[in-house]
This record gives sequence, structure tokens and C-alpha cells, in this order.
Amino acid sequence: MNKKHTPTVAFHTLGCKVNQHDTAIMAALFQDSGYAVVDFHEVADVYVVNTCTVTHLSDRKSRQMLRRAAGENPEAIVVACGCYAQTAAKELEGLDEVDLIIGTNERHRVVEAVEQFAKDHQRQIYLPEKNDLFYYENLPHERVSGMTRAYVKIQEGCNQFCTYCIIPYARGPLRSRSEDDTIEEINGLVAAGYKEVILTGIHIGAYGRGLKDETCDLTGLCRRILDETAIARLRIGSLEGVEVTDDLIEMIATNPRMARQLHLPLQSGCDQTLAAMRRPYDTAAFREMVAAIRARVPDIAITTDIMVGFPGETDEDFQASLAFADEMAFSDMHIFKYSQRDGTPAATMPNQVDPRIKDARAKEMAAVAARNKIAYEEALIGRRVRLLLEEPLGDGRWVGHSSNYLYVTVTGEGLSSGRFVDAVLTGRQEGRLQGELINSDEEE
Ligand code: 5AD
Repeated sequence: MNKKHTPTVAFHTLGCKVNQHDTAIMAALFQDSGYAVVDFHEVADVYVVNTCTVTHLSDRKSRQMLRRAAGENPEAIVVACGCYAQTAAKELEGLDEVDLIIGTNERHRVVEAVEQFAKDHQRQIYLPEKNDLFYYENLPHERVSGMTRAYVKIQEGCNQFCTYCIIPYARGPLRSRSEDDTIEEINGLVAAGYKEVILTGIHIGAYGRGLKDETCDLTGLCRRILDETAIARLRIGSLEGVEVTDDLIEMIATNPRMARQLHLPLQSGCDQTLAAMRRPYDTAAFREMVAAIRARVPDIAITTDIMVGFPGETDEDFQASLAFADEMAFSDMHIFKYSQRDGTPAATMPNQVDPRIKDARAKEMAAVAARNKIAYEEALIGRRVRLLLEEPLGDGRWVGHSSNYLYVTVTGEGLSSGRFVDAVLTGRQEGRLQGELINSDEEE
């Protein structure tokens, strides 16, 4: 690497919010070592692609981005890290573009690996030994500034082994970060100007397990964060519906700093499919949970992930799933076409569904999702929301998220990123919610 100029590094992140957090940490490590972070489309000395392997499409996109990185600058060092790098190291070794392969628990060594490669040009694979996966990487990332919302990882790995899912193999067993470390990181983020923290993990409803103090849980952690940090808004990432406690619902109902949103991945609305997936609930339990949440927090946004075309899903099963998803009236749905992941039980189940049927089912599900999203938004028109402004659209227009995760456009003078403003929802334009500012001077 040319040491005369400031070395540059560019990141591309695929997949989930946990990966976003992992990238933020790696960016901070590079910055600490004197690198400047640049856009992925710029010429950089190092490209890091933080990959995903949740479906075969994620694999493909990961490979595409690695090739694109090498195309941006053929001289650059190209690093593949994350879940796809972990599970498919052998496959990636065959890609000439890739110089370094770094597994899910070796991210803290990324700078060291790059500097070593700059010296010896030896392609390397850094994968953890199985036992090392218990180590919890504790790396703060408050030095990456210029953002309004930060993903904070409180937990890593998963022991659930849902039959379709590769993630427990890619990220290892469940382990939790200590409450104190989490609070320290959030205090650092507040000091760096962040206004919203999103708690993430692979199975955050199981937060606390594996800690010395096994009495810790997600609700207790949220309470401590509200008490011991000045973070203006706290959002909880994807969570199993059956792990939502009454105390957590109560906190969301009564504390305005708790975001009024829960992402509860349903995966299927058919009991037979849920059982084959080895999910820890049936539709009756899910329905009951959602009703209890809405009874206490009526305007809450409940969002979900749903899968179509799981092995053995008949037309009838799919219709049941569709009807249940519609009944739940999610304010947003992420729709996944089931993808066979090598090594998972579902990959070898009989009655795999034809890709064309998966496509058709995904479309039908998307129509239900769109209808419910619009219905949720339209029911809130005329209501007052507090927005955290994120980015300008030009012409004085800005967009930001409300507590209940509405993405709203407002227009005004002197607006800036990271500022809270109050607005009244006035309607929808070009598929986007519009708001009118009430008092843009108010800071939180
Ligand atoms: N095929 C398709 N979607 C999957 N997901 C997890 N595994 C698979 C798979 N094999 C989806 C689930 C999960 C989301 C992150 O990815 O819906 O909630």
C-alpha cells in the first residue's frame, strides 16, 4: 500500500442490522489506524464486503460486490468477511478477486490482516476455531460519526436451529454482551451526537443467557439504558413474539423514549409450516401476543418477516399463511422466498416448492403487505408525530423516522440531520408519507 497518502477503505454491507453494526466497528478500527473511510464507488486502497448468506440471493449479491470492488480498483486489497465468508470460505477461495477471507468472529483482526497482506501479498483465511466462537467481541464504535441512528449489538449467535436457517452455523452459539459494556457504548454514542440506538442481535429475546448474572434480560437492559444514558430514542430490533414480556410492553406504552415499534418475525401463518420450521409458537399464540401488545399500545407498528415456499407448503397452507398475515395487519413485511441452505434440515426435506410457485406466492404476499402498510399509514393521517431527521432530499425537503417507524417527508428552512421535529401527517405523495412541521425549533 502507498504509505505516502492517507490510506482509504470502503465498505459494503449486505443483509441484516447486525451486519451494519459489525461494519461500523470495522470502520472505527480502520479509522483508529489512520485510514479514511470513502464511498464504495470511489477508488480505495481496501474494500471490505461484509457478506450475508441468509439466502442464495445473499450469496450471489455478496460475490457480485466482491467482483465490483476489484473492478473499482484492481490494485486494491479486497476483503470478504461476515456470514458468507464464514460458511463458504472454500468457495470464496476460488474467486481471484478476493485477497482475504475473515470469519464472523475474527473481524477485530481485519486491520492486522490487511496490513499483513500489504506486506507479503499472501492470500489468507481467518476463521475461528469452533471453541473461540464463545468469545464476545466487545468493540465500541462511537468514533464513526455523522450518523443519527446507531445499531448496537447486545447479543450474538443463536441456539434455536429453526430448520431453514443457516445463521446458527455462520455465527455460532448464543452469547450476550454485558449490560455495563452496552451502556458504556451507548453513552459514547450519545456523546458523539447519536440520537437513536437500535438494539440488535440474532436472538435478542434470549439476551442475558450466557452472562455471569443470568437474571439479566432484554427488558431489564432497556430499563437500565433509559435510566443510565441520555439516548433520546431506543428501538428494539427483531424479536420473537413469544419473548415479549408484559414489562416490555408497559415500558413502550409509558416511556416516550421507547420507540413504538416491534419487529416480530412470523415466518409463516400456517401452523403445520411453523411446526416444520421448528418455530417456538403457533398462530394462536402469535395472535394472542399481538392482541396484548395492541391493547396496551394501539398505534404501535408491528412489522414482520415472512417466508413463502417452505418445503411442503401446499396451496392450502399458503392461503392460510396469507390470510393470517392479512389478519395481523402488519405495518410492514419483509418477504423471503424460501432458499435451500446446505447443512440445514429443511434443505433435504421432501416436497421442495417450485421456484415459479415461490415467485407467485411472494407476489401475492407482497400485495397483502402493501395494502396493510397503506392502511396503517392512512389511519394515522392527521396525527402528530416526532421525527428524527436523517437526510435531505433537496429543495428543502427532509426525511426522518417517527417513533412508530413511519418514514415521513417534511419541508422547512434550516433543517438538519440528527434533529427532532414535530409534524402533523397530512397525506401520501408518490408513495411517501408527508408531514407538515409544527415547531421545528424544538430540540430533544
Ligand atoms: N430462506 C429464505 N429466507 C430465510 N430467512 C432465514 N433463512 C431463510 C431461508 N433459508 C429469512 C427469515 C428471517 C430473515 C432474516 O431471513 O424470514 O427472519
